[in-house]
Amino acid sequence: MYKVSPTVQGEKVHFKEPDPAFYEAIGEEGMRKLMYDFYDIIYESDIAHFFPQDPEEFEAVKVRNSKFFIQLCGGPKVYEGESKGMELNQYMVRLHDDFSIYEKSRLEWLGAMREALEKVDIAQHLKDDFWNYVEQFSKLTVNTTVDGSKYYQDL
Ligand code: HEM
Repeated sequence: MYKVSPTVQGEKVHFKEPDPAFYEAIGEEGMRKLMYDFYDIIYESDIAHFFPQDPEEFEAVKVRNSKFFIQLCGGPKVYEGESKGMELNQYMVRLHDDFSIYEKSRLEWLGAMREALEKVDIAQHLKDDFWNYVEQFSKLTVNTTVDGSKYYQDL
């Protein structure tokens, strides 16, 4: 339950998209609530500075982020228009290239996600399945090491 393994540079990341049963249980509104709760926690976290400080821009990120997770988890294809024809996961990894994301940032991100997920009232095994996806996929967003060097992981 909510385990975290370290990112190892150059090591292939194996992730599995969340079980559709997770989306069926949480629903579209529940998913939106999860993501808004998540960003409320992010806003108070050590990685708050990564995100837009302008409330309207931040709101736009929340909206796009919720759409991504709704589509990824098996809901309506509401994020389709954003990914510019690229495969969804590939697009999501490349979108993060614009930010210098350290392992420490990933751990902070995962901590916020865990806190938000703990408040969701659905079966634990479904939350564990979603967790396993974010825990693995987030490794692909880590692109900066402590000595400042960059490494862009391929899918
Ligand atoms: C499972 C891992 C992750 C997923 C699925 C994910 C997903 C997303 C999505 C859907 C968006 C909005 C995309 C859009 O604008 O259309 C986003 C934006 C962003 N994410 Fe992630 N993310 C992950 C991990 C991380 C981590 C570890 C960080 C660390 C800081 C991070 C930082 C950001 C930033 C800075 C933005 C953009 C904010 C802006 O547009 O100014 N993400 N992410």
